[in-house]
Amino acid sequence: MSQIISLTLKNLKTIWLAREIPNISEENAEALKQIMREKNPKHILEIGTANWYSALHFVTAIADDSDITTIEQAWNMHIDAVTNFKNCKTKNIHAIWGDAKSVILSLADGYFDLVYIDAMKKEYLQYLIAILPKCSADWLIIIDDVEKFAEKMADLYEYLNTQEIPYQLKKTDIDDSIMIIKRSDIRI
Ligand SMILES: C[S@@+](CC[C@H](N)C(=O)[O-])C[C@H]1O[C@@H](n2cnc3c(N)ncnc32)[C@H](O)[C@@H]1O
Repeated sequence: MSQIISLTLKNLKTIWLAREIPNISEENAEALKQIMREKNPKHILEIGTANWYSALHFVTAIADDSDITTIEQAWNMHIDAVTNFKNCKTKNIHAIWGDAKSVILSLADGYFDLVYIDAMKKEYLQYLIAILPKCSADWLIIIDDVEKFAEKMADLYEYLNTQEIPYQLKKTDIDDSIMIIKRSDIRI
């Protein structure tokens, strides 16, 4: 990890604690990076950039020629994120400002190998349905905060169960888990 990236991660964490920005925890970041190292995705999509803390962690775990597209609807967060990734001189980052529900529809079909969802909990099912056509043949989707905010995403659980889409829950924080859905686990 370059010095500028490690310094920026430290600074962002200090700002996050002071301003109560809901960035992922270190433990969660490590679990997500482990999945990325194993999957080695070429094209990553993140819903919910905030100040770019999670995506900056991802940069340290993916290949140099991989790209990250990240969507954020709050203008101040988007500007923070763009400033941070320019300071770190990282390549292949596409930060899009806008509501993910409409931005996703404008993205290329069949493109993303790994999608990470960490935005408005009650909109998770809408993101998922919009994202599926945008994924490559061997996709993996990670959805955050699925234990702590389970009641806000009751429709997501209902959809997955009704459609018989298998998922795994992985504990990444003392009080929370991520959900992992893999194309390879789905029949048909
Ligand atoms: C939990 S924070 C993301 C934290 C970030 N992934 C990290 O760990 O550094 C959720 C972010 O999603 C954004 N958000 C909420 N609804 C959104 C939407 N419909 N489209 C895009 N971004 C959204 C919020 O403004 C907020 O910055």
